[in-house]
Amino acid sequence: MTTRKTEVPAFRYPGSKNKLARVILKYVPKRGRKFVDACAGRGNITFRAIADGLDYERWIVNDIARAPFFRAVRDRGDKFKTTQKSKAEFDRLAEMVKRGDPHALLMEPFIAFNGGTYDGGGSTTEGGRRSPASYEANVRLACELLRKKEVQITDFDWLTCLEAEHLGQDDFVMLDVPYIGCDVGAYSAESICPTELIEHLKAAKFNWVLTEYRQPLYIKAFGEPVYQKEVQLQTTNFAVTGGKERRLECLWTNIEKSVVKRDSVTVPCEPVPDDRADAYYVDLPEQELLREIRECATVITAARNQMNKEMRRRLLPALLELKRRTFRKHPSYYETLANMGLNPDTVRQWFYRSHTADEVIGQIEEEQEAPKETVHGGERPLDAKALLLQRADKIAKAILENKIKYAKRLATEYMQAREECWG
Ligand SMILES: C[S@@+](CC[C@H](N)C(=O)[O-])C[C@H]1O[C@@H](n2cnc3c(N)ncnc32)[C@H](O)[C@@H]1O
Repeated sequence: MTTRKTEVPAFRYPGSKNKLARVILKYVPKRGRKFVDACAGRGNITFRAIADGLDYERWIVNDIARAPFFRAVRDRGDKFKTTQKSKAEFDRLAEMVKRGDPHALLMEPFIAFNGGTYDGGGSTTEGGRRSPASYEANVRLACELLRKKEVQITDFDWLTCLEAEHLGQDDFVMLDVPYIGCDVGAYSAESICPTELIEHLKAAKFNWVLTEYRQPLYIKAFGEPVYQKEVQLQTTNFAVTGGKERRLECLWTNIEKSVVKRDSVTVPCEPVPDDRADAYYVDLPEQELLREIRECATVITAARNQMNKEMRRRLLPALLELKRRTFRKHPSYYETLANMGLNPDTVRQWFYRSHTADEVIGQIEEEQEAPKETVHGGERPLDAKALLLQRADKIAKAILENKIKYAKRLATEYMQAREECWG
C-alpha cells in the first residue's frame, strides 16, 4: 500500500534517508513482530514504514542522541507552533535545548543547518524552503503516528538496544548507521565499530537492512549490496572535498537468505608464534605469505570485537555495580579504580593508533596517481625524477614526525625505485 507524499512525515537531517526510505522498504517484510530502527536519526524510515501501512506489532525507535526529539514530537507535537526564524531566536533555542526544552527540540530540524543540531549553526536559505505551516503539519502528523502505534522510544547504544529486544526471525532491524569516515557534525562516525556490527549481523537470526557507502569491509562480509546509487558524499569537510565528491550509497540485507546460513564464524585467538619476524617471511612461499596476511587481518578484527565485548558485557556493567556499592564509602569508587591503575587515560590509550598501525596503513594505502604538470597549455604525467622527489618528500615527512623505522623502510623502497629508474 502506498500513500500520497503529503501523508508521510519527513525531517531534514544529515544522513537522512527520507529520499531512500521508499527503496529501503521494498526489501523489508511487510508484516512482523518488532520493527526496530536502531539508529533512527529523525525517524524518516520508521515514519514512512508506518505511513505506508507496514504491519508490525511493536515499533521501536532507538537513537543514542535523538531520543529526546522523538519524545518531544510524541508529547508536544500536536500543539506545536513554530517561532520566528531569526538569529536571535536560534541563539535562544540553542540555550533552551541544553535544558531539554521540547519546543527547542521540535524547532531543531526546521531552524538548524541541514536539519542537524544547534551546535552545527543556523539554517541557510537551503533549509528554509518549508513554510512554518507545512512544518507544523509535518510535526503533527509525526506525533499522530508515534501515538497511534505507541512507538517505543529508547536511547541505547545500538547493540544494547538489539540485545534488550530479544529478536528473532519475525523481527526486522533497520541499521542506518553513521557512515565510516563521514564527519556530518550532528553525530560521530566513530560511535559504532563496523567490525563489531559485522560480527553481530552475521550471527543475527532477525531480518536486517544495513545502509552504508560501498565499503570493502561490508562487501567482504555480506557480498555485493542488493542496491546501490551514486550520491554526493555526506560530510561537513568541504574544504577537502570541495563538496563535489561522489559515493555509492548501498543497501545490504540478510532477508531472503536462509536462517541456517545466518551463522557467525568464530576465529580462534592464539598467541603470535615466536619465530615471526622480518626474517621468517623472506623465503616464505607466496601462498603461505598470503595466508599469513589474511589470517592476521581476521585475528586482529576478532581481537577488536572481543575488546568491545569485554567492555560492553563485563567492564561497563561491573563498573556501574561497583559505583553503586561504593557510594559514600571508603575507599571510594575512584580510589578503588586508581588502586588497580584504571583511569580515563588508561582507557584512552587502549584506542591509540600505534606507530605500527600507521606503518601498516602506509603499506596498504595505494600510491596517489602521479600529479600532472602543465606544458604548453596541456597536461602530462610527472617524470621519474619528479616521482622520486615525491617519495623523498614522504621520507622527509616521516623523519620530521620521528617515525624513523618507517622512514627507513620508505628509504629502502626509494633506493629500489631509483635503481629501477636509472639502473
Ligand atoms: C545516518 S543517521 C540516521 C538517519 C535516519 N535514518 C533518518 O533518516 O533520519 C545515524 C544515527 O545514528 C545515531 N547513532 C550514532 N551512534 C549510535 C550508536 N552507537 N547507537 C545508536 N545510535 C547511534 C546518530 O545519533 C544518528 O542519528
